[in-house]
Amino acid sequence: MKFARTDFPEGFLFGAATSSYQIEGHAHGGAGRTHWDDFAATPGNVVRAEDGAMACDHYHRWEEDLDLLQGMNVDVYRFSTSWARVLPEGRGTVNAEGLDFYDRLVDGLLARGLKPALTLYHWELPSTLADIGGWRNREIAHWFSDYADIVMDRIGDRIWSVATINEPWCVGWLSHFVGAHAPGLRDIRATARAMHHILLAHGTAVQSMRAHGHGNIGAVCNLEWAAPVDDAPASKNAAERYDAIYNRFFMGGMFKGAYPDLILEGLEPHLPEGWQSDFETITAPVDWCGINYYTRSLLAAADGPWPAYRQVPGPLPRNSIGWETYPQGLHDFLVRTQDEYTCDLPLYVTENGMAANDALLPDGTVDDADRQAFIAEHLDAVRDAIAKGVPVKGFFLWSLLDNYEWAYGYEKRFGAVHVDFETLKRTPKNSYHALAAALRR
Ligand code: FCB
Repeated sequence: MKFARTDFPEGFLFGAATSSYQIEGHAHGGAGRTHWDDFAATPGNVVRAEDGAMACDHYHRWEEDLDLLQGMNVDVYRFSTSWARVLPEGRGTVNAEGLDFYDRLVDGLLARGLKPALTLYHWELPSTLADIGGWRNREIAHWFSDYADIVMDRIGDRIWSVATINEPWCVGWLSHFVGAHAPGLRDIRATARAMHHILLAHGTAVQSMRAHGHGNIGAVCNLEWAAPVDDAPASKNAAERYDAIYNRFFMGGMFKGAYPDLILEGLEPHLPEGWQSDFETITAPVDWCGINYYTRSLLAAADGPWPAYRQVPGPLPRNSIGWETYPQGLHDFLVRTQDEYTCDLPLYVTENGMAANDALLPDGTVDDADRQAFIAEHLDAVRDAIAKGVPVKGFFLWSLLDNYEWAYGYEKRFGAVHVDFETLKRTPKNSYHALAAALRR
């Protein structure tokens, strides 16, 4: 990696990201059961039916992990609090041990000169709330906002930023329509309701946090570039529908107070009654917008009911999950987000990185040259966007550690630090050392 910190505007922040269920070890510290535990226990959902019970055991090894962050020379750490650790039943009684853990974590970050960037929801919905409809239940707006207030009341005085719900598309579409993430539904009505309630919960929590005096509040969306596989008008339409569902529904709701027509075609009959009057809450102003970006998809038309598209494998190099590497998409999204949705609002790349088959070599190193190239190419794309006047203010690598990669279990490695899931030993990969060196320059 040839870049230097000085290649970026003054004050540009570099960070690393993780999430609670993926690293902490949910069996420890009084955390409640989550819908990911239920999903993983259902055969066929997760590789080897693995769950987050132990994960990286960050709950006990957090000091070592914060030292690793510090050694990487990053400025910010994007982490999440687990709803089920803080409120094992989702509502009601607080698990004091859980809040104490996050309190120590935040102090540990500050002691190491790192800015804490909090995400309130990175997917570990308490099972008790899933039992009563989870994201399909409109009441989740209040459950979520109450949880947000409890967390912020404890650590809000020391964190640098707070984001509401990580990746609404995954929480809504991937989990209720595709069925690939918890709760594993494949139901259009559940999807429409979940997608709308995610935004309602986001807006309700933003308003409440603001009313309690908190600032630097953001929204984080994952975006995937959608391109037609060929010149056929039907392929173009398919790509536009995919783009609307993936990239325009949540941005449209939050920043324009409207859903794209291409979505209403399919989802309008299933949206909850009176959905239009929720936009006043959904558009509650935020202070920044985060974009998680990994890949693109090629689309063709498909037979069958809406949305009638299918993904077609493309020719570009892929990561170990099979996602194509397409840095241009990051540049184009940053430009488009400013132009069409966020104007002068600061943008952050809140996640970017790649999965690779990283092996620990006999000499104790991990040679992940492909990851270094991936990061460098995406940072170039960020710089190009900045040169065009897009206010990109920071970049976070996904992830600090190899961790529980959801439906892929522990098989897919995204970390700058290798984790041996038998011994839990951490080994910084070559990309870690290269990043640390670049951020010193
Ligand atoms: C994102 C998730 C994150 C991780 C990366 C690879 O969609 O936010 O938890 O799984 O993908």
